[in-house]
Amino acid sequence: MRTHLCGQLRDSHIDDQVSLCGWVHRRRDHGGVIFLDVRDHAGIVQVVFDPDTVESFKLADQVRNEYVLNITGRVRTRDAAAINPKMATGMIEVLGKELTILNASETPPFQLDEHSDAGEDVRLRYRYIDLRRPEMQDKLRLRSKVSHFIRNYLDQQDFIDIETPILTKATPEGARDYLVPSRTHPGEFFALPQSPQLFKQLLMISGFDRYYQIARCFRDEDLRADRQPEFTQVDIETTFLEEQEIMDLVETMFRQMFRETIDVELPEFPVMTYADAMKKYGSDRPDLRFGLELADVADLLKEVEFNVFSGPANDPKSRVAALRLPNGDQLTRKMIDGYTKFVSIYGARGLAYIKVNDLAAGIEGLQSPILKFLPDNVVLNILDRVGAEDKDIIFFGADKAKVVNDALGALRCKIAEDLNLYAKKWAPLWVTEFPMFEGEGSNWTATHHPFTQPTGDMDAMLADPGSVLSRAYDVVLNGIEVGGGSIRVHEMEMQKKIFEVLDLTEHEINIKFGFLLDALKYGAPPHGGLAFGLDRLIMLMCDSNAIRDVIAFPKTQTAACLMTSAPSEVDPPQLAELNIAVKKSKI
Ligand code: AMO
Ligand code: AMP
Repeated sequence: MRTHLCGQLRDSHIDDQVSLCGWVHRRRDHGGVIFLDVRDHAGIVQVVFDPDTVESFKLADQVRNEYVLNITGRVRTRDAAAINPKMATGMIEVLGKELTILNASETPPFQLDEHSDAGEDVRLRYRYIDLRRPEMQDKLRLRSKVSHFIRNYLDQQDFIDIETPILTKATPEGARDYLVPSRTHPGEFFALPQSPQLFKQLLMISGFDRYYQIARCFRDEDLRADRQPEFTQVDIETTFLEEQEIMDLVETMFRQMFRETIDVELPEFPVMTYADAMKKYGSDRPDLRFGLELADVADLLKEVEFNVFSGPANDPKSRVAALRLPNGDQLTRKMIDGYTKFVSIYGARGLAYIKVNDLAAGIEGLQSPILKFLPDNVVLNILDRVGAEDKDIIFFGADKAKVVNDALGALRCKIAEDLNLYAKKWAPLWVTEFPMFEGEGSNWTATHHPFTQPTGDMDAMLADPGSVLSRAYDVVLNGIEVGGGSIRVHEMEMQKKIFEVLDLTEHEINIKFGFLLDALKYGAPPHGGLAFGLDRLIMLMCDSNAIRDVIAFPKTQTAACLMTSAPSEVDPPQLAELNIAVKKSKI
């Protein structure tokens, strides 16, 4: 049907007879001449019909946006005044001779131009139309290119691609499972994998040495801009490698991937411990595109009468931290009130601040609602600690450590975004030495997953789970956790002890993980790996801030598909066959 792609035509094609297929992007009637912008996946070209070609002209007059056409015509140069340097095909146009309407279209529910302001619900409902937009096409094409690169790269490094089951048993990665009822085992359920974690470990025990899979994972968790219930991991596992070797392999792959697919030279990835990341940035996935480090000031505030500060300053589980914003004097009262509201989302009960108008003038040169509560020498020591300069504003957080970290960690990112403080476009890093467990008393959860190897011996772990670090590492890019991995437990006894710390009974351990413990008895080699989120990575690579943009058919914030109306009710006979009775009331 076609000889060329619309978007490929250039002045080298002038005078060629071409046959094109595509969609009507726009139709304009210019006093007896009809212009059609015709679009295919390669781009848009302008086609002109004049009344001399009577039949075609009549048809061209009838077509509307999104009609599908086959056009034959001759490429010619545009008049000087009509040249459009913004279009790749802007030097030429096609003088249409024959036109066939391959299919008509109803008026689309929204315009397809780049600045379409259609709401996301409409775009998701008519996703097949939304995906016609060139910018959406570009994103999915980049995604395909990146997957292709990854497969090639890992193949060259002797990794083999092995598929693991989708109908399986729960793999704990911290979310709820999606369950699938079994017809043949009434009352029993499969779980969809939260990740292929246990299967990839079993493959190492089977001696495959290096595995990868571009694997679909399913997690029923609260959705955010960078989370989908169904997403894709590039999942990797290796035998006999230490963490540094795995990190080197992944870092080299990332750097080459960015170079070859989007022409970006990533810097080397610095390594930061979890403890450092929390201390300096209040986050285990710090955004290093800008500075704005936190400083601890609790030691200076233990004795003050101002309870808001001295309370947390004297509590080992709390933190008092300061965040210095250079040139923060530009913030208005309204903006500061806005930030106070913003930190309250994270549980902060206020956002004390000091504005530094004139450092040389001492206390007189400061402006703050808390000066009256603090002795002058304490204030001056704080200024000294944070390295204050004229025009700064210094924010304070005082509360349980988690609240302060969450609040100030998020505040530094929000301020950087609002004031565009990014000094770099790309800031990757490794975060290492995570705590093995989170919690207290006898209530512990695994920070990563329970198959991660702790550092130190088993006795220390049992005596004080909270003090144990793990051999886990995360890769972070621009403040987003892109991937995570670890060296795994390969000794049965150790694995069992970890389950015990997590308060699983012998019975629960056997039911949930008996197959893993069995496998660890038969010559399990030391092994480790990592998985990174392909969707998140592509989102970053194409400078988007919504993961939905890089998934062809994503779900909404409430984990539904607006196009197919999934999830949906099923017929009673189907439920009966599955031995399922549905309670209609919502829990
Ligand atoms: P983890 O749970 O850290 O590790 O997941 C690895 C990466 O997957 C991505 N990711 C998600 N992307 C989109 N939507 C989600 N809901 C979602 N959840 C996770 C993130 C994350 O860094 N089995 C381990 C890996 C290992 O230890 O090898 C695991 O799944 O980018
Ligand atoms: P108050 O005495 O509650 O009026 O607080 C005085 C100042 O301290 C105000 O600017 C509050 O925003 C701030 N503030 C109150 N609680 C906290 C807190 N937990 N952390 C940081 N600042 C706070």
